[in-house]
Amino acid sequence: MSDTLQNPPSKATPMLITVERYHGAARILHWIVAALVLATWPLGLMIGFAKKEVSLNFYLVHESLGFLILWVMLVRIGTKLFVAAPAAEEAPAIERFAAAAVHGLLYLFLIIMPVSGFLATNAHGFPLVWFGLLPVWSPIGKTPDIAWTLSAIHGYSAWILLGLFALHIGAVVMHHVIKRDQTLYRII
Ligand code: HEM
Ligand code: HEM
Repeated sequence: MSDTLQNPPSKATPMLITVERYHGAARILHWIVAALVLATWPLGLMIGFAKKEVSLNFYLVHESLGFLILWVMLVRIGTKLFVAAPAAEEAPAIERFAAAAVHGLLYLFLIIMPVSGFLATNAHGFPLVWFGLLPVWSPIGKTPDIAWTLSAIHGYSAWILLGLFALHIGAVVMHHVIKRDQTLYRII
């Protein structure tokens, strides 16, 4: 189920336009995850450059925010099972396929990222204490054999996620600035 927005605020739209929006829960979850990812991703990259005295804080905040993303994504996927996305905009089949593929891959990598990061830190022998307050159960314990593989998965996936995000923003710009259609209003 989705709701509609009439006449998005623009002086350039004198006629009545109806936009089929994502459900409220999907819209809120989209922006919560976007904000968390936009904070977590650069923090992850900065860990490698941070001075020794502060790097533990970078680890803690990065890992805690990243772990939060996992749970919000699980809620988001659960929500998606109950509230359908609005019908796709009128567009050539190839564009609709590209949008569905990028959205699907974003979902996938937003699960791969926190799971690989979480398992990697546990495998290296540093179980997560969420924001320094809540010790999180370690499902694998210290497992040096697989620690670097998990770290590599986390590192490579980070760049794939960045590439997907670039495609996503490229699509937003194409719709909003070039085509000047209503796509952006579907999610706000
Ligand atoms: C969606 C969630 C996450 C995103 C987007 C993310 C992103 C990143 C990025 C961009 C890097 C730097 C990669 C590089 O240097 O090439 C990184 C490193 C790292 N992340 Fe994450 N991460 C997430 C979740 C987590 C979680 C949940 C944990 C652990 C509980 C974690 C632990 C780490 C660690 C230990 C590093 C390595 C830092 C180093 O020693 O260089 N990450 N992450
Ligand atoms: C920061 C600026 C962002 C803007 C302006 C933006 C804009 C949009 C728009 C307009 C849609 C609807 C597309 C459609 O109806 O076809 C959408 C959906 C989506 N966005 Fe974003 N987005 C942003 C950030 C992000 C980030 C950081 C992520 C994840 C890394 C993300 C993941 C998604 C996903 C997975 C969907 C599909 C909706 C769903 O099925 O839940 N977005 N976004």
